[in-house]
Amino acid sequence: MNESNKPVLEFPKRFLWGVATSAHQVEGGNHNQWTVWELENAKAKAAQAGYHLNDHDSWEQIKDQAKDPDNYVSGALGDHYNRYLEDFELLEKMHMNAYRFSVEWSRIEPEEGVWDAEAVMHYKEYAARLKKRNIEPIVTLFHFTLPVWFTQKGGFTKRSNVKYFTRFTEKIISELGTSVRLIITINEPEVYASESYYNQSWPPAVRDRYKWWRVINNLAYAHRQSAKVIHRLNRRYKVSIAKNSNFFYPGDNAWLSRFSAAVMQYGQDDYFIMKVIKHCDFLGVNYYFSHRVYGYRIHNPDQQLSDLNWDLHPADIQYVLERLHGRYKLPIIVTENGLADADDSRRQWWITQTLIGMQKAIASGVQLQGYLHWSLMDNFEWAEGKWPRFGLAAVDYKTGERTLRPSARWFGRVIKKVRGL
Ligand code: BGC
Repeated sequence: MNESNKPVLEFPKRFLWGVATSAHQVEGGNHNQWTVWELENAKAKAAQAGYHLNDHDSWEQIKDQAKDPDNYVSGALGDHYNRYLEDFELLEKMHMNAYRFSVEWSRIEPEEGVWDAEAVMHYKEYAARLKKRNIEPIVTLFHFTLPVWFTQKGGFTKRSNVKYFTRFTEKIISELGTSVRLIITINEPEVYASESYYNQSWPPAVRDRYKWWRVINNLAYAHRQSAKVIHRLNRRYKVSIAKNSNFFYPGDNAWLSRFSAAVMQYGQDDYFIMKVIKHCDFLGVNYYFSHRVYGYRIHNPDQQLSDLNWDLHPADIQYVLERLHGRYKLPIIVTENGLADADDSRRQWWITQTLIGMQKAIASGVQLQGYLHWSLMDNFEWAEGKWPRFGLAAVDYKTGERTLRPSARWFGRVIKKVRGL
């Protein structure tokens, strides 16, 4: 670190610099359990928007979108499915050498046991094109969306259904072959389980503690089974989950605050990681925010908020990385990190602070191998719909036009310098 607290740009030579997306959030034109649910719930969600969101600082800017049912229907989005080459050019413009994306199971196996050859071809071509551009593809197999037939069977609430996911893993990874090396099986397992089976905010939007618990444990099992299949196909594949890991810290010195923060951190991170760690070659970590704990409750300072009212503490990524590396000793890739910032007023600050945090973590011995910003482009933010703007590139959903935001152009220059290009 130099005196002005600007990061001295020294990262490992082969560090992966890139972005992440997921199929359903950018592709457009999907048919899965989410699209069905979106259509059923859009009107009600639009009607409730004022009630849910009017405490947000961003309310004045977002209210027209948030009150429009169309906001809650992913629809065509930016049509990344067909325009992906254009989007790969954005990666090149930012001098990136890595890209995390997900393959959409519902396209590849639209009916049980029926493989769609065109969709398979699409993703083969997609990964191969990245490789050709010297961009390391990092493929995610489950990023919250599922084929409707699979959810009709009970989805991940049933352990006996995991075999369908493993079969899908085997199919798509053997098709992708050597175009990929890095594989994320499951994205944010507890986030999926909690939003879908406890908070009632994602499909199937039920509150059922038993199912919630089953889903978490079955996702751990799904990871283990898939990792075995993947390693059997080729031992050179490197496999992980993308673990949601936010930072919990005590707001005062009281033993209860310190104890609660530690318990929350443990509960969030370690229960799941311990179930899968033997089947991980590295650890994917998604970091978005920190929580300040007083007593046994969370009270955040809320000094700097994102458009989604998330309390922003980018430099705390250091502590998350140090803790996870200290415990599990695996190399880490930051598989997601970013913020909803429609006017792009906080993104450059966020990335700068993140770089500082990551450098400190590396200096203290963390084997950090990459950083993937969320996200390449504006996308469908699940229950919130289209108004939150996470993109380094802004997307005009009417015309499909992509425009790199100023922070993205700046980040591109930073990457160029760090990579010595
Ligand atoms: C998810 C993404 C999501 C992002 C921002 C992560 O929880 O993996 O799908 O868009 O956070 O909320």
